Amino acid sequence: MKLFIDTGSVAEVEEIAAWGVLSGATTNPTLLAKEPGDPAEIIARICELVDGPVSAEVVSDETEGMVTEGRALAGLHRHVVVKVPFSEAGLAATRELASDGIRVNMTLVFSAAQALLAAEAGATYVSCFMGRLDDIAVDAGAVLEEIVEALGPDREAQVLAASLRHPMHAVTAARLGCEVATAPGKVLRAMLAHPLTDQGIERFAADWRSRPEFGEWLQGLVAQGAATAGTR
Ligand code: E4P
Repeated sequence: MKLFIDTGSVAEVEEIAAWGVLSGATTNPTLLAKEPGDPAEIIARICELVDGPVSAEVVSDETEGMVTEGRALAGLHRHVVVKVPFSEAGLAATRELASDGIRVNMTLVFSAAQALLAAEAGATYVSCFMGRLDDIAVDAGAVLEEIVEALGPDREAQVLAASLRHPMHAVTAARLGCEVATAPGKVLRAMLAHPLTDQGIERFAADWRSRPEFGEWLQGLVAQGAATAGTR
């Protein structure tokens, strides 16, 4: 499963892209509205940083407006994927954009029935919002499982788990066979954490320090490697 970052913050993308785990990003009007600066520059910069698909959302509520906005957004950068909210108008816009060769992320999908329609309309990504389902006491894992099963193993549309609130949402999405999960920085940072990892690192460092001659040996090895590289 690929991991995307769900944010409008260039600084956050810069920080987390440096880990080498991001394949793309998703934004939405709420996330971009929190950021100072020009949205076009923000989207283009995120595209460069993740070097993969970056969803940018249309805000019109009728088909023609969605298509016009979608074409404009797609023109910002070759990595832009147009995010279209689920609705009758959104389905029609998805069909039109997809026919133009523009990739669409159909967003705000909360059921397998909606996912089937989104996939039929030609969406490249079908975004199911796990956190918002859990917020209303609907089992997000069960809905996501239905979506994955309904679209089938040979699906063309990729199932994108969105609205992640904690690391287990990402794990559930991966176990169910989703192609992508998009997570805010907070959740991605939480995925790093395990007390046994911290304890283990401290223990290895302390044990190594107990043999100072080993430290000198490693320094020598590094210097040797650097000298050899310099002669190449
Ligand atoms: C996904 O593409 C959406 O931007 C996002 O995951 C929404 O998450 P929220 O429910 O935390 O707003």
